[in-house]
Amino acid sequence: MKLELFNKPITNIEADITVEFLTSDDLKEHSEVKMLNKAGFQAEQDSICFLHEKNILFCGIDSKNNDDIRSASVSVVKALKTSNYESAKLNSPNIESISGLVEGFILGGYTYNNYKSEPKIAKLKSVFVACEASNYDEFQSSFEDALIIAGATCFTRDIVNTPPQELNPQTLASLAQKLAGENKLDCTILQEEELQKERMGAMLAVGRASTHGSALIHLAYKPKNPKKVISLVGKGLTYDSGGLSLKPATSMVTMKMDKAGACAVLGIMKAVSELKLDIEVHAFIGAVENMIGGDAYKPDDVLISRSKTTIEVRNTDAEGRLVLADVLSYAQDTLKADALFDFATLTGACMVALGQYTTGVMGHSSKLKHDFSKAASNSGELVGSLPFNKHLKKLLKSEIADISNTASKPYGGAITAGLFLDRFIKEDMKQKWLHFDIAGSAYTESPWDCNVHGATGAGVRLMSQYLKNL
Ligand code: BES
Ligand code: ZN
Ligand code: ZN
Repeated sequence: MKLELFNKPITNIEADITVEFLTSDDLKEHSEVKMLNKAGFQAEQDSICFLHEKNILFCGIDSKNNDDIRSASVSVVKALKTSNYESAKLNSPNIESISGLVEGFILGGYTYNNYKSEPKIAKLKSVFVACEASNYDEFQSSFEDALIIAGATCFTRDIVNTPPQELNPQTLASLAQKLAGENKLDCTILQEEELQKERMGAMLAVGRASTHGSALIHLAYKPKNPKKVISLVGKGLTYDSGGLSLKPATSMVTMKMDKAGACAVLGIMKAVSELKLDIEVHAFIGAVENMIGGDAYKPDDVLISRSKTTIEVRNTDAEGRLVLADVLSYAQDTLKADALFDFATLTGACMVALGQYTTGVMGHSSKLKHDFSKAASNSGELVGSLPFNKHLKKLLKSEIADISNTASKPYGGAITAGLFLDRFIKEDMKQKWLHFDIAGSAYTESPWDCNVHGATGAGVRLMSQYLKNL
């Protein structure tokens, strides 16, 4: 489906059906109010009413704000996709809600069909948005940015949704190379031999039982005269079986999504390069598969990480932090960045703390956390801050190594995981680093907001918005 913006009155656009968003106040004044009353339409947020004989589709909204327009656009695109209309037109909302409209249509209309023998093909091909505002150029630029960001979010969703027999650390590396080729990014892949040379004992241990070699992917977007340099790190567990601390059968299902941090970072690289931001952005991805086997790493192993910190393994299912420890260390030594952000489906505990919809944000800088809650409110993503404290930090003490990969008490698991990562952040980066736990927000088995079954692309809209604000 294509979404297009036109600088002309809606009456000059040809389409099969017209879409109108109505508040309950708009409804009272509307010329079709009698008909709509008959149909029982009360303009409740997201409620839908077709007047087929007039070729109009109404959708109720509480207000014209970005969140309400996004949510209503999802209802509209879902209704249109199951109808026989091939094209639709509507008036553009105000400029603050244009991104919500684009996200609603593109992200709400998304489906992952690659493995359906007979995918349901929607008849809907085009949605035309009419805009006659005097500041049309501004509308157009917001509209085009929103299209880029929504497209990058769908790109991330596609990779996360790809099943693990197709998407392993090596194919993820190939995909990153392909993106680099298409978007003119620098790309370096470190294979296991090079990871050995880098002494990445933590990351290599996690991937040892897999038949697919682990890889560290480094992508870079380097515009001329960048205003800032940003490092992004992504957890790319293409499958997390739990390893020898094997996950129960029902918890293992959906663990293809344990690469969502890596995929978000790839989507962000796609977005920043297409938005042509004047910020240098680097992506560092640890692509690994956590499996069982004769040479699997074990609870009781002590790993020597790249930064020489020794780690007692008490649970092989707390593998993401081991991979990130080495990738964070590599990223900090490879590049002097103004900020360092990592994205990871790190803990089930984050979902317990914040619910399924909210990304957990951790770090030492109140300013950075504040900037992200601002970016989030414009991006349509939800974030919540989880506070570090010295008492939780003590729970990571090990009797035989420098640190344990699990905490000695069961509460505050998202924070203790964040504090584990903190151990691998250098002193001069402490105030420049944030950790994003997307365990809940990256994947869903029931639709919410503009998210449909499967990957949500969490992190892409949030980070793109933050980088645009810089
Ligand atoms: N990938 C999981 C976290 C996860 C769980 C993501 C559910 C999405 C949904 C991670 O590697 C993991 O298994 N973490 C353990 C840590 C524990 C062993 C300390 C967890 O959350 O149970
Ligand atoms: Zn795990
Ligand atoms: Zn994991």
